[in-house]
Amino acid sequence: MVNITNPRINNILLSLLVLIALCSPTLSDDQCSTPQLQIYEDGVALKMKRGINIGNALEAPREGDWGVYIRDEYFSIIREAGFDTVRIPIRWSAHAGVEPPYKIEDEFFSRVDHVINKALEQNLTVIINVHHYEEIMRDPLGHRERFLAIWRQISERYRNYPENLCFELLNEPHDALTSDLWNALLLDAVKTIRETNPARKIIIGPVDWNSVHSLKRLTLPDDENIIITFHLYTPFEFTHQGAEWVSPSPPVGRKWLGTEDEQRQITDELDIAVQWAKEHGNLPLLLGEFGAYGKADMNSRVRWTYFVAREAERRNIAWCYWEFCAGFGVYDSKKGEWREDLLNALIPKEDAFYISAETDYGEILGSGWYYRGTYATVKLERTEFGFPIPVIFDHFEGLKPEDIVLDRGTVKVYVDGPRMVKAIWRRDYSKLAAASVAGLLAMGLSLLLYWRRLKRKWKRNGLNKRFNA
Ligand code: BGC
Repeated sequence: MVNITNPRINNILLSLLVLIALCSPTLSDDQCSTPQLQIYEDGVALKMKRGINIGNALEAPREGDWGVYIRDEYFSIIREAGFDTVRIPIRWSAHAGVEPPYKIEDEFFSRVDHVINKALEQNLTVIINVHHYEEIMRDPLGHRERFLAIWRQISERYRNYPENLCFELLNEPHDALTSDLWNALLLDAVKTIRETNPARKIIIGPVDWNSVHSLKRLTLPDDENIIITFHLYTPFEFTHQGAEWVSPSPPVGRKWLGTEDEQRQITDELDIAVQWAKEHGNLPLLLGEFGAYGKADMNSRVRWTYFVAREAERRNIAWCYWEFCAGFGVYDSKKGEWREDLLNALIPKEDAFYISAETDYGEILGSGWYYRGTYATVKLERTEFGFPIPVIFDHFEGLKPEDIVLDRGTVKVYVDGPRMVKAIWRRDYSKLAAASVAGLLAMGLSLLLYWRRLKRKWKRNGLNKRFNA
Protein backbone atom coordinates (compact mmCIF):
# COMPACT_ATOMS: atom_id res chain seq x y z
CA MET A 1 0.00 0.00 0.00
CA VAL A 2 1.18 3.53 -0.65
CA ASN A 3 1.81 5.49 2.45
CA ILE A 4 -0.07 8.69 1.66
CA THR A 5 1.28 10.39 4.75
CA ASN A 6 4.82 10.12 3.45
CA PRO A 7 5.66 13.65 2.18
CA ARG A 8 8.12 12.37 -0.45
CA ILE A 9 5.53 10.04 -1.92
CA ASN A 10 2.99 12.83 -1.72
CA ASN A 11 5.33 15.06 -3.67
CA ILE A 12 5.82 12.41 -6.31
CA LEU A 13 2.06 11.91 -6.54
CA LEU A 14 1.54 15.65 -6.77
CA SER A 15 4.15 15.95 -9.53
CA LEU A 16 2.46 13.12 -11.37
CA LEU A 17 -0.88 14.85 -11.08
CA VAL A 18 0.61 18.13 -12.28
CA LEU A 19 2.22 16.28 -15.17
CA ILE A 20 -1.08 14.74 -16.14
CA ALA A 21 -2.82 18.07 -15.84
CA LEU A 22 -0.13 19.76 -17.89
CA CYS A 23 -0.25 17.05 -20.49
CA SER A 24 -0.95 19.25 -23.44
CA PRO A 25 -4.37 18.91 -25.03
CA THR A 26 -2.73 19.39 -28.38
CA LEU A 27 -1.10 17.27 -31.01
CA SER A 28 -1.05 13.62 -31.61
CA ASP A 29 -0.01 12.33 -28.22
CA ASP A 30 -2.38 9.41 -27.79
CA GLN A 31 -1.83 9.17 -24.05
CA CYS A 32 -3.14 12.68 -23.39
CA SER A 33 -6.87 13.03 -23.19
CA THR A 34 -8.30 15.74 -25.40
CA PRO A 35 -10.06 18.72 -23.85
CA GLN A 36 -13.79 18.95 -23.74
CA LEU A 37 -15.17 21.64 -25.94
CA GLN A 38 -17.12 24.09 -23.88
CA ILE A 39 -20.63 24.42 -25.12
CA TYR A 40 -22.73 27.51 -25.80
CA GLU A 41 -26.37 27.54 -24.73
CA ASP A 42 -27.32 26.74 -28.31
CA GLY A 43 -24.84 24.00 -28.75
CA VAL A 44 -22.11 25.92 -30.59
CA ALA A 45 -18.71 25.22 -29.16
CA LEU A 46 -17.82 28.20 -26.98
CA LYS A 47 -14.35 28.23 -28.37
CA MET A 48 -15.77 28.83 -31.79
CA LYS A 49 -17.17 32.30 -31.49
CA ARG A 50 -14.87 34.81 -33.12
CA GLY A 51 -12.53 33.55 -35.80
CA ILE A 52 -10.44 34.56 -38.74
CA ASN A 53 -9.59 32.91 -42.05
CA ILE A 54 -5.92 32.61 -42.89
CA GLY A 55 -6.74 33.06 -46.55
CA ASN A 56 -4.59 33.23 -49.69
CA ALA A 57 -1.98 30.87 -48.18
CA LEU A 58 -2.56 27.13 -48.29
CA GLU A 59 -5.43 27.40 -50.76
CA ALA A 60 -3.22 29.11 -53.36
CA PRO A 61 -1.85 26.69 -55.98
CA ARG A 62 1.34 26.64 -53.85
CA GLU A 63 1.66 28.35 -50.49
CA GLY A 64 3.20 31.77 -51.08
CA ASP A 65 1.92 32.08 -54.67
CA TRP A 66 -0.69 34.60 -53.53
CA GLY A 67 1.64 36.51 -51.23
CA VAL A 68 0.83 34.79 -47.95
CA TYR A 69 3.07 32.27 -46.25
CA ILE A 70 1.77 31.30 -42.81
CA ARG A 71 4.28 32.30 -40.17
CA ASP A 72 4.25 30.51 -36.81
CA GLU A 73 3.83 33.73 -34.89
CA TYR A 74 0.55 34.54 -36.64
CA PHE A 75 -1.28 32.26 -34.28
CA SER A 76 -0.15 33.97 -31.08
CA ILE A 77 -0.86 37.34 -32.72
CA ILE A 78 -4.35 36.15 -33.57
CA ARG A 79 -4.97 34.64 -30.15
CA GLU A 80 -3.73 37.73 -28.32
CA ALA A 81 -6.02 39.96 -30.39
CA GLY A 82 -8.98 38.03 -28.98
CA PHE A 83 -9.91 35.52 -31.66
CA ASP A 84 -10.63 31.97 -30.55
CA THR A 85 -10.81 30.27 -33.96
CA VAL A 86 -8.83 30.07 -37.18
CA ARG A 87 -10.19 28.71 -40.41
CA ILE A 88 -7.42 27.45 -42.64
CA PRO A 89 -8.47 27.03 -46.28
CA ILE A 90 -6.46 24.29 -48.00
CA ARG A 91 -6.21 23.32 -51.66
CA TRP A 92 -5.58 19.59 -51.13
CA SER A 93 -6.49 18.91 -54.74
CA ALA A 94 -3.25 20.56 -55.88
CA HIS A 95 -1.22 18.19 -53.71
CA ALA A 96 -2.96 14.85 -54.26
CA GLY A 97 -2.33 12.29 -56.97
CA VAL A 98 -4.72 12.31 -59.91
CA GLU A 99 -4.94 8.50 -60.00
CA PRO A 100 -5.99 6.13 -57.21
CA PRO A 101 -5.03 6.03 -54.39
CA TYR A 102 -4.91 9.83 -54.81
CA LYS A 103 -2.05 10.08 -52.33
CA ILE A 104 -1.50 13.43 -50.68
CA GLU A 105 2.16 14.56 -50.91
CA ASP A 106 4.08 13.82 -47.69
CA GLU A 107 5.75 17.19 -47.69
CA PHE A 108 2.46 19.01 -48.00
CA PHE A 109 0.88 16.95 -45.25
CA SER A 110 3.82 17.74 -42.96
CA ARG A 111 3.41 21.41 -43.69
CA VAL A 112 -0.28 21.23 -42.81
CA ASP A 113 0.58 19.28 -39.61
CA HIS A 114 2.94 22.06 -38.64
CA VAL A 115 0.39 24.80 -39.26
CA ILE A 116 -2.36 22.97 -37.36
CA ASN A 117 -0.01 22.23 -34.46
CA LYS A 118 1.06 25.85 -34.16
CA ALA A 119 -2.59 26.94 -34.08
CA LEU A 120 -3.51 24.30 -31.50
CA GLU A 121 -0.56 25.30 -29.33
CA GLN A 122 -2.28 28.66 -29.01
CA ASN A 123 -5.44 26.94 -27.87
CA LEU A 124 -7.30 28.04 -30.96
CA THR A 125 -10.14 26.10 -32.47
CA VAL A 126 -8.90 25.10 -35.91
CA ILE A 127 -11.04 24.52 -38.97
CA ILE A 128 -9.44 22.88 -41.96
CA ASN A 129 -11.39 22.49 -45.16
CA VAL A 130 -11.13 21.45 -48.78
CA HIS A 131 -10.87 24.75 -50.63
CA HIS A 132 -10.68 25.64 -54.31
CA TYR A 133 -11.30 22.11 -55.49
CA GLU A 134 -12.32 23.61 -58.80
CA GLU A 135 -12.28 20.36 -60.75
CA ILE A 136 -15.07 18.91 -58.62
CA MET A 137 -17.26 21.93 -59.35
CA ARG A 138 -16.97 21.12 -63.06
CA ASP A 139 -17.17 17.34 -62.83
CA PRO A 140 -18.61 16.21 -59.49
CA LEU A 141 -19.04 12.53 -60.36
CA GLY A 142 -15.63 12.29 -62.00
CA HIS A 143 -14.04 13.60 -58.80
CA ARG A 144 -16.19 11.79 -56.26
CA GLU A 145 -13.66 9.04 -55.47
CA ARG A 146 -10.77 11.47 -55.30
CA PHE A 147 -12.67 13.78 -52.95
CA LEU A 148 -13.49 10.87 -50.64
CA ALA A 149 -9.92 9.59 -50.81
CA ILE A 150 -8.67 13.03 -49.79
CA TRP A 151 -10.99 13.03 -46.78
CA ARG A 152 -10.03 9.46 -45.88
CA GLN A 153 -6.36 10.49 -45.70
CA ILE A 154 -7.05 13.69 -43.77
CA SER A 155 -9.26 11.82 -41.32
CA GLU A 156 -6.72 9.10 -40.70
CA ARG A 157 -3.92 11.58 -40.23
CA TYR A 158 -5.72 13.67 -37.64
CA ARG A 159 -7.88 11.02 -35.97
CA ASN A 160 -6.11 11.51 -32.62
CA TYR A 161 -6.07 15.25 -32.72
CA PRO A 162 -8.04 17.12 -30.10
CA GLU A 163 -11.67 18.03 -30.53
CA ASN A 164 -10.87 21.61 -31.31
CA LEU A 165 -9.74 20.57 -34.75
CA CYS A 166 -12.80 20.64 -37.01
CA PHE A 167 -13.27 19.44 -40.57
CA GLU A 168 -15.21 21.47 -43.12
CA LEU A 169 -16.17 19.30 -46.06
CA LEU A 170 -15.93 21.67 -49.00
CA ASN A 171 -15.76 25.42 -49.50
CA GLU A 172 -18.56 26.95 -51.54
CA PRO A 173 -19.93 24.08 -53.68
CA HIS A 174 -21.24 25.53 -56.94
CA ASP A 175 -21.70 25.11 -60.69
CA ALA A 176 -22.14 21.45 -61.72
CA LEU A 177 -22.07 20.40 -58.07
CA THR A 178 -25.83 20.80 -57.74
CA SER A 179 -27.72 20.33 -54.50
CA ASP A 180 -28.72 16.74 -55.39
CA LEU A 181 -25.16 15.74 -56.14
CA TRP A 182 -23.85 17.62 -53.12
CA ASN A 183 -26.37 16.06 -50.74
CA ALA A 184 -25.31 12.59 -51.89
CA LEU A 185 -21.60 13.39 -51.80
CA LEU A 186 -21.67 14.97 -48.35
CA LEU A 187 -23.32 11.84 -46.94
CA ASP A 188 -20.50 9.71 -48.28
CA ALA A 189 -17.88 12.15 -47.02
CA VAL A 190 -19.36 12.20 -43.51
CA LYS A 191 -19.47 8.38 -43.54
CA THR A 192 -15.81 8.27 -44.58
CA ILE A 193 -14.76 10.67 -41.83
CA ARG A 194 -16.80 8.83 -39.19
CA GLU A 195 -14.83 5.62 -39.81
CA THR A 196 -11.92 7.20 -37.97
CA ASN A 197 -13.34 10.29 -36.27
CA PRO A 198 -16.61 9.26 -34.60
CA ALA A 199 -17.29 12.54 -32.84
CA ARG A 200 -15.28 15.25 -34.58
CA LYS A 201 -17.19 18.39 -35.53
CA ILE A 202 -17.92 18.38 -39.25
CA ILE A 203 -18.88 21.64 -40.88
CA ILE A 204 -21.19 21.59 -43.88
CA GLY A 205 -22.60 24.38 -46.02
CA PRO A 206 -25.16 24.63 -48.82
CA VAL A 207 -24.55 24.92 -52.57
CA ASP A 208 -24.39 28.17 -54.55
CA TRP A 209 -21.26 29.33 -52.80
CA ASN A 210 -22.63 28.57 -49.31
CA SER A 211 -25.56 30.89 -49.81
CA VAL A 212 -28.24 30.99 -47.09
CA HIS A 213 -30.83 30.97 -49.85
CA SER A 214 -29.79 27.41 -50.73
CA LEU A 215 -30.05 26.03 -47.21
CA LYS A 216 -33.54 24.85 -48.07
CA ARG A 217 -32.01 22.40 -50.53
CA LEU A 218 -29.46 20.99 -48.09
CA THR A 219 -30.08 17.59 -46.54
CA LEU A 220 -28.00 16.27 -43.70
CA PRO A 221 -26.97 12.94 -42.24
CA ASP A 222 -28.34 11.96 -38.86
CA ASP A 223 -25.28 13.03 -36.88
CA GLU A 224 -24.93 14.96 -33.65
CA ASN A 225 -21.70 16.68 -34.50
CA ILE A 226 -22.56 18.79 -37.48
CA ILE A 227 -22.15 22.56 -37.66
CA ILE A 228 -23.84 24.45 -40.48
CA THR A 229 -21.88 27.08 -42.32
CA PHE A 230 -22.81 29.86 -44.74
CA HIS A 231 -21.04 32.90 -46.23
CA LEU A 232 -22.19 36.50 -46.35
CA TYR A 233 -20.84 39.13 -48.74
CA THR A 234 -23.97 41.27 -49.10
CA PRO A 235 -24.18 43.57 -50.95
CA PHE A 236 -21.67 41.99 -53.31
CA GLU A 237 -21.22 45.31 -55.17
CA PHE A 238 -19.88 46.78 -51.95
CA THR A 239 -17.80 43.89 -50.57
CA HIS A 240 -16.26 42.96 -53.91
CA GLN A 241 -15.71 46.39 -55.42
CA GLY A 242 -12.58 46.36 -57.56
CA ALA A 243 -12.07 42.60 -56.97
CA GLU A 244 -9.74 41.43 -59.73
CA TRP A 245 -11.03 37.84 -59.63
CA VAL A 246 -14.63 38.87 -60.32
CA SER A 247 -15.75 39.57 -63.87
CA PRO A 248 -17.05 42.17 -64.40
CA SER A 249 -15.58 43.65 -61.27
CA PRO A 250 -18.03 45.94 -59.41
CA PRO A 251 -16.88 49.57 -59.64
CA VAL A 252 -14.89 51.05 -56.75
CA GLY A 253 -16.51 53.83 -54.73
CA ARG A 254 -19.63 52.17 -53.36
CA LYS A 255 -20.06 53.03 -49.70
CA TRP A 256 -21.93 51.21 -46.97
CA LEU A 257 -23.66 53.73 -44.75
CA GLY A 258 -25.79 51.38 -42.70
CA THR A 259 -29.16 52.63 -43.91
CA GLU A 260 -32.22 50.66 -42.87
CA ASP A 261 -32.32 48.95 -46.25
CA GLU A 262 -28.66 48.05 -46.13
CA GLN A 263 -29.02 46.65 -42.64
CA ARG A 264 -32.11 44.67 -43.53
CA GLN A 265 -30.37 42.92 -46.43
CA ILE A 266 -27.91 41.52 -43.91
CA THR A 267 -30.27 40.70 -41.05
CA ASP A 268 -32.62 38.98 -43.51
CA GLU A 269 -29.85 36.57 -44.50
CA LEU A 270 -28.87 35.91 -40.90
CA ASP A 271 -32.51 35.31 -40.00
CA ILE A 272 -32.93 32.82 -42.83
CA ALA A 273 -30.00 30.84 -41.40
CA VAL A 274 -31.36 31.01 -37.85
CA GLN A 275 -34.84 29.98 -38.93
CA TRP A 276 -33.53 27.06 -40.96
CA ALA A 277 -31.27 25.90 -38.12
CA LYS A 278 -34.20 26.05 -35.69
CA GLU A 279 -36.37 23.96 -37.97
CA HIS A 280 -33.61 21.36 -38.21
CA GLY A 281 -33.11 20.62 -34.54
CA ASN A 282 -31.39 23.83 -33.46
CA LEU A 283 -28.21 23.19 -35.37
CA PRO A 284 -25.19 25.33 -34.47
CA LEU A 285 -24.32 27.96 -37.07
CA LEU A 286 -21.03 29.30 -38.35
CA LEU A 287 -20.74 32.32 -40.60
CA GLY A 288 -17.56 30.92 -42.14
CA GLU A 289 -16.71 33.91 -44.35
CA PHE A 290 -17.65 37.57 -44.44
CA GLY A 291 -15.54 40.56 -45.30
CA ALA A 292 -15.16 43.63 -47.50
CA TYR A 293 -12.27 43.96 -49.95
CA GLY A 294 -9.55 46.52 -49.26
CA LYS A 295 -10.58 48.71 -52.18
CA ALA A 296 -13.70 49.85 -50.31
CA ASP A 297 -13.21 52.88 -48.05
CA MET A 298 -12.23 52.13 -44.48
CA ASN A 299 -15.20 53.91 -42.87
CA SER A 300 -17.61 51.72 -44.80
CA ARG A 301 -15.62 48.56 -44.13
CA VAL A 302 -15.59 49.24 -40.41
CA ARG A 303 -19.33 49.98 -40.29
CA TRP A 304 -20.20 46.89 -42.36
CA THR A 305 -17.88 44.54 -40.50
CA TYR A 306 -19.04 45.74 -37.08
CA PHE A 307 -22.67 45.42 -38.07
CA VAL A 308 -22.35 41.91 -39.49
CA ALA A 309 -20.28 40.63 -36.56
CA ARG A 310 -22.59 42.08 -33.90
CA GLU A 311 -25.76 40.88 -35.64
CA ALA A 312 -24.29 37.39 -35.97
CA GLU A 313 -23.33 37.39 -32.30
CA ARG A 314 -26.80 38.56 -31.27
CA ARG A 315 -28.13 35.42 -32.95
CA ASN A 316 -25.47 33.14 -31.42
CA ILE A 317 -23.82 32.58 -34.78
CA ALA A 318 -20.08 31.95 -34.57
CA TRP A 319 -18.12 33.79 -37.29
CA CYS A 320 -14.80 33.78 -39.14
CA TYR A 321 -13.77 37.00 -40.87
CA TRP A 322 -12.38 36.72 -44.40
CA GLU A 323 -9.40 37.23 -43.99
CA PHE A 324 -6.19 37.76 -42.03
CA CYS A 325 -3.47 39.47 -44.08
CA ALA A 326 -4.26 39.59 -47.81
CA GLY A 327 -6.68 41.75 -49.82
CA PHE A 328 -9.41 41.83 -47.18
CA GLY A 329 -6.77 41.77 -44.47
CA VAL A 330 -7.27 43.03 -40.98
CA TYR A 331 -3.54 42.54 -40.31
CA ASP A 332 -0.78 44.31 -42.21
CA SER A 333 1.96 41.68 -42.40
CA LYS A 334 4.49 44.08 -43.95
CA LYS A 335 4.21 46.52 -41.08
CA GLY A 336 3.60 43.73 -38.58
CA GLU A 337 0.56 45.48 -37.15
CA TRP A 338 -3.20 45.20 -37.03
CA ARG A 339 -5.42 47.61 -38.92
CA GLU A 340 -6.83 48.76 -35.62
CA ASP A 341 -10.06 50.29 -36.90
CA LEU A 342 -11.01 47.03 -38.59
CA LEU A 343 -9.80 44.85 -35.73
CA ASN A 344 -11.95 46.86 -33.31
CA ALA A 345 -14.91 46.28 -35.61
CA LEU A 346 -14.43 42.55 -35.14
CA ILE A 347 -13.36 42.52 -31.52
CA PRO A 348 -14.54 45.79 -30.02
CA LYS A 349 -13.15 47.12 -26.80
CA GLU A 350 -15.82 47.26 -24.16
CA ASP A 351 -18.00 50.33 -24.50
CA ALA A 352 -16.08 51.70 -27.47
CA PHE A 353 -17.91 52.73 -30.63
CA TYR A 354 -16.99 53.82 -34.11
CA ILE A 355 -17.91 57.37 -34.92
CA SER A 356 -17.68 57.95 -38.62
CA ALA A 357 -17.60 61.21 -40.46
CA GLU A 358 -18.53 61.38 -44.13
CA THR A 359 -18.43 64.10 -46.73
CA ASP A 360 -18.75 64.21 -50.49
CA TYR A 361 -16.44 67.23 -50.77
CA GLY A 362 -13.41 68.46 -48.93
CA GLU A 363 -12.03 66.50 -46.02
CA ILE A 364 -13.56 65.50 -42.76
CA LEU A 365 -11.64 64.53 -39.65
CA GLY A 366 -12.78 62.69 -36.58
CA SER A 367 -13.62 59.13 -37.66
CA GLY A 368 -12.42 56.64 -35.09
CA TRP A 369 -13.18 54.59 -32.00
CA TYR A 370 -14.29 56.47 -28.90
CA TYR A 371 -15.51 55.42 -25.48
CA ARG A 372 -19.12 55.84 -24.41
CA GLY A 373 -19.83 59.12 -22.71
CA THR A 374 -17.00 61.01 -24.42
CA TYR A 375 -17.17 63.35 -27.39
CA ALA A 376 -15.67 62.87 -30.85
CA THR A 377 -14.74 66.12 -32.54
CA VAL A 378 -15.72 66.10 -36.19
CA LYS A 379 -14.17 68.84 -38.28
CA LEU A 380 -14.86 69.62 -41.86
CA GLU A 381 -12.10 71.12 -43.97
CA ARG A 382 -13.12 72.64 -47.20
CA THR A 383 -10.59 71.85 -49.91
CA GLU A 384 -12.92 71.76 -52.91
CA PHE A 385 -14.98 74.56 -54.26
CA GLY A 386 -16.81 72.80 -57.07
CA PHE A 387 -16.70 73.81 -60.71
CA PRO A 388 -18.56 75.19 -62.60
CA ILE A 389 -21.25 75.22 -59.93
CA PRO A 390 -19.70 75.92 -56.52
CA VAL A 391 -20.64 73.70 -53.56
CA ILE A 392 -21.45 75.22 -50.20
CA PHE A 393 -21.48 73.34 -46.89
CA ASP A 394 -25.00 73.45 -45.52
CA HIS A 395 -25.26 71.37 -42.32
CA PHE A 396 -24.33 68.13 -40.59
CA GLU A 397 -26.77 65.27 -40.93
CA GLY A 398 -27.13 62.77 -38.10
CA LEU A 399 -26.77 65.14 -35.15
CA LYS A 400 -28.54 64.56 -31.83
CA PRO A 401 -29.54 67.10 -29.17
CA GLU A 402 -26.57 66.01 -27.01
CA ASP A 403 -24.09 67.06 -29.70
CA ILE A 404 -22.38 70.43 -29.48
CA VAL A 405 -21.90 72.52 -32.60
CA LEU A 406 -18.72 74.53 -32.08
CA ASP A 407 -18.71 76.45 -35.32
CA ARG A 408 -20.07 75.95 -38.80
CA GLY A 409 -17.66 73.19 -39.69
CA THR A 410 -16.96 71.65 -36.30
CA VAL A 411 -19.17 69.56 -34.07
CA LYS A 412 -18.61 67.53 -30.94
CA VAL A 413 -20.47 64.26 -31.35
CA TYR A 414 -21.65 62.55 -28.19
CA VAL A 415 -20.68 58.88 -28.05
CA ASP A 416 -23.59 56.68 -27.02
CA GLY A 417 -23.23 53.99 -29.69
CA PRO A 418 -21.96 53.70 -33.27
CA ARG A 419 -22.76 56.97 -35.02
CA MET A 420 -22.33 58.54 -38.42
CA VAL A 421 -22.25 62.25 -39.10
CA LYS A 422 -22.45 63.44 -42.66
CA ALA A 423 -21.66 66.86 -44.08
CA ILE A 424 -24.48 67.96 -46.38
CA TRP A 425 -23.57 70.33 -49.16
CA ARG A 426 -25.69 72.27 -51.58
CA ARG A 427 -24.96 73.58 -55.03
CA ASP A 428 -24.79 77.35 -55.27
CA TYR A 429 -26.61 78.15 -58.47
CA SER A 430 -26.83 81.91 -57.75
CA LYS A 431 -23.44 82.61 -59.28
CA LEU A 432 -24.29 80.51 -62.29
CA ALA A 433 -27.61 82.33 -62.66
CA ALA A 434 -25.90 85.74 -62.42
CA ALA A 435 -23.26 84.62 -64.90
CA SER A 436 -25.96 83.33 -67.26
CA VAL A 437 -27.91 86.59 -67.13
CA ALA A 438 -24.71 88.56 -67.75
CA GLY A 439 -23.83 86.18 -70.58
CA LEU A 440 -27.26 86.52 -72.16
CA LEU A 441 -27.11 90.30 -71.96
CA ALA A 442 -23.66 90.35 -73.51
CA MET A 443 -24.82 88.04 -76.26
CA GLY A 444 -27.87 90.22 -76.97
CA LEU A 445 -25.73 93.32 -77.09
CA SER A 446 -23.23 91.79 -79.48
CA LEU A 447 -26.04 90.56 -81.73
CA LEU A 448 -27.47 94.06 -81.80
CA LEU A 449 -24.11 95.60 -82.64
CA TYR A 450 -23.50 92.97 -85.30
CA TRP A 451 -26.91 93.61 -86.82
CA ARG A 452 -26.28 97.32 -87.03
CA ARG A 453 -22.88 96.75 -88.63
CA LEU A 454 -24.43 94.39 -91.17
CA LYS A 455 -27.09 96.90 -92.03
CA ARG A 456 -24.47 99.56 -92.63
CA LYS A 457 -22.48 97.22 -94.84
CA TRP A 458 -25.46 96.28 -96.98
CA LYS A 459 -26.32 99.95 -97.34
CA ARG A 460 -22.84 100.67 -98.58
CA ASN A 461 -23.10 97.84 -101.13
CA GLY A 462 -26.35 99.30 -102.60
CA LEU A 463 -28.66 96.76 -101.16
CA ASN A 464 -30.50 99.47 -99.34
CA LYS A 465 -33.22 99.55 -101.97
CA ARG A 466 -34.81 96.47 -100.53
CA PHE A 467 -34.67 97.90 -97.11
CA ASN A 468 -36.04 101.23 -98.20
CA ALA A 469 -38.73 99.71 -100.34
C1 BGC B 1 -12.53 32.47 -51.93
C2 BGC B 1 -11.52 33.57 -52.03
C3 BGC B 1 -12.18 34.90 -52.18
C4 BGC B 1 -13.20 35.09 -51.11
C5 BGC B 1 -13.96 36.34 -51.33
C6 BGC B 1 -13.39 32.78 -50.79
O1 BGC B 1 -14.24 31.72 -50.56
O2 BGC B 1 -11.92 31.27 -51.74
O3 BGC B 1 -10.65 33.32 -53.10
O4 BGC B 1 -11.23 35.91 -52.05
O5 BGC B 1 -14.07 34.00 -51.04
O6 BGC B 1 -14.46 36.37 -52.63
